[in-house]
Amino acid sequence: MLKKTLESVLSTKESDELISAFDQIGHIIIIRIPDSLTSKKKLIGETLLDQVKSAKSIFYQSSSVDGEFRTRDLEILAGEDKTETEYKESGCRFFVDVRNVFFSPRLSSERTRIAEFVNNDEVVVNMFGGVGIFSIIAAKLKKCTVFNIDINPFATKLCKKNIAINRLVGNVISIHGDASQVINSQL
Ligand SMILES: C[S@@+](CC[C@H](N)C(=O)[O-])C[C@H]1O[C@@H](n2cnc3c(N)ncnc32)[C@H](O)[C@@H]1O
Repeated sequence: MLKKTLESVLSTKESDELISAFDQIGHIIIIRIPDSLTSKKKLIGETLLDQVKSAKSIFYQSSSVDGEFRTRDLEILAGEDKTETEYKESGCRFFVDVRNVFFSPRLSSERTRIAEFVNNDEVVVNMFGGVGIFSIIAAKLKKCTVFNIDINPFATKLCKKNIAINRLVGNVISIHGDASQVINSQL
């Protein structure tokens, strides 16, 4: 799809070099561009913004997912330099900040698969829970209680917001901290 959208600004060779996948998360598109095409990254960003009507921001991913928080470096190519957006999955709504927290739209079938393992009335500890996507989808699907722990304060703050907008206060509990310490001291 990315290659097709960019046919008008890239040669066939350049188009073949381009990584064919890109992620769209709400109004945000994140693309990875090979070194041979970085001189054209602005043009690529502007073309995508023009062609993909639901997009408001195009970011270039300039690092791999890394560090304790598993985040990535993003450079704005076109549109608003705003990294918080709303994403919908499995009938739930999520606020994510693609610069400050880990988030991947590619795990949606894995999230459904894991949620189906949970039984009604179970208590689940999600030790590396991020903004709460696995936890909230499980709690929407099953009558369970989920403790969503994350060491990244941006993630636990967004998780609290996501619990509230999905009306799961009391069913999902967002806890900030190192999972091993939280489990020993609080759970
Ligand atoms: C690959 S991300 C997965 C997040 C979430 N499960 C998701 O799929 O959206 C791993 C998460 O673990 C968190 N993390 C790393 N070390 C941790 C620790 N010691 N205790 C709690 N969370 C931790 C990071 O901040 C990050 O949000």
